[in-house]
Amino acid sequence: MTERSFTELRLDGVGRRFAGKDALVDLDLTIRAGEFIALLGPSGCGKSTALNCLAGLLPLTTGSIWQRGPEGERRIDTLPPEKRGFGMVFQSYALFPHMSVRRNVAFGLQMRRLPRAEVVRRTAEAISLVQLDEHASKLPGQLSGGQQQRVAIARAVVLEPSLVLMDEPLSNLDAKLRLEMRSEIRRLHQSLGLTTVYVTHDQEEALSLADRLVVLREGRVQQIGTSEELHTRPSNWHVADFMGFRNIMEVDVTHVSGTEVAVAAGELRLRGTATADVSVGDRVVAAVRPEDVLVGTADGPDGTPATVEVAGYQGRELAVEVRTSDGRALHLRTEQRLAPGDAVTLTIDPQRLLIYPLAAGEHVPEPLVAAVPS
Ligand SMILES: Nc1ncnc2c1ncn2[C@@H]1O[C@H](COP(=O)(O)OP(=O)(O)O)[C@@H](O)[C@H]1O
Ligand SMILES: [Mg+2]
Repeated sequence: MTERSFTELRLDGVGRRFAGKDALVDLDLTIRAGEFIALLGPSGCGKSTALNCLAGLLPLTTGSIWQRGPEGERRIDTLPPEKRGFGMVFQSYALFPHMSVRRNVAFGLQMRRLPRAEVVRRTAEAISLVQLDEHASKLPGQLSGGQQQRVAIARAVVLEPSLVLMDEPLSNLDAKLRLEMRSEIRRLHQSLGLTTVYVTHDQEEALSLADRLVVLREGRVQQIGTSEELHTRPSNWHVADFMGFRNIMEVDVTHVSGTEVAVAAGELRLRGTATADVSVGDRVVAAVRPEDVLVGTADGPDGTPATVEVAGYQGRELAVEVRTSDGRALHLRTEQRLAPGDAVTLTIDPQRLLIYPLAAGEHVPEPLVAAVPS
């Protein structure tokens, strides 16, 4: 570990405005050494702003950043980026095009005027870590996108940074390579004992990589939690929507018993689990994942009748869109071989249908489901 190592990094009310408009508001986050943190949210929610504030590439408008080490806490948001000892990896690889892989990776070490033997040794180690030994003499232009991103990662980790910051590093890669590089990044994080903050708009990527996720929406933290917490218990319907609860419906509460809630919308009658206080008569949001909408046959026991409209092949499963008799579209996943026009009944485990309050004046956008002739 370097002299810059820390036990905790604390963001305290960090905010950033651009021309009077909030890009990031009041971010409180404590990053523990060794953690893998993902900043997750849709495009424009303030992820890069948060990362750049942490890196020192953007001055804060409000708040402060503190680093806790063996000698206590010290403030670092007033330090220039190069004094923070962090490594950065961007979506655009930002390699020097006229330098070989080896020289790109060695560059930062040379800037630090380290002894030549140490530069050579650490450069070779870093190139080996990202499995580019055979390509060390090539120019970036002679490498694939994935290989170039590996060079960028080697160039960051060779400096043994106390924190590695990555901003959508895999967005320019094709799907297969993205999966490979995902495991590679997690492997490096573990084997080098790194502390990583990783920005992505891809919830699957964030869920599979991170120890903890920070979900942002319009510059504000919505939820901080583990993958499992975010997957099973999103804190509000916006997070649920973003985390893959594709069925998000406005419904009315008809009965409440503890956290068990009955809701209705048109002919739809469902039972769910309240995530907050709701009362009979409230307009609320019901959210459920496609895989938690279960299909029976049309003459099965109680359930909601619906007709299959679209069935798309997705490996072992079909991704299916159905429409209830009163015209409500729902998404589900099933291993049953359904076809357009099939009559089905739908049931949902009340534990898996989450009920969220709806703020005054707020509305769930109508789902965009193609109506196809049957
Ligand atoms: N340099 C800038 N000048 C003005 N507005 C900016 C600048 N950088 C970001 N923004 C705005 O701040 C908001 C958050 O941007 P950003 O952090 O880049 O989002 P993300 O990385 O989540 O896509 C957006 O509305 C964006 O337009
Ligand atoms: Mg960004």
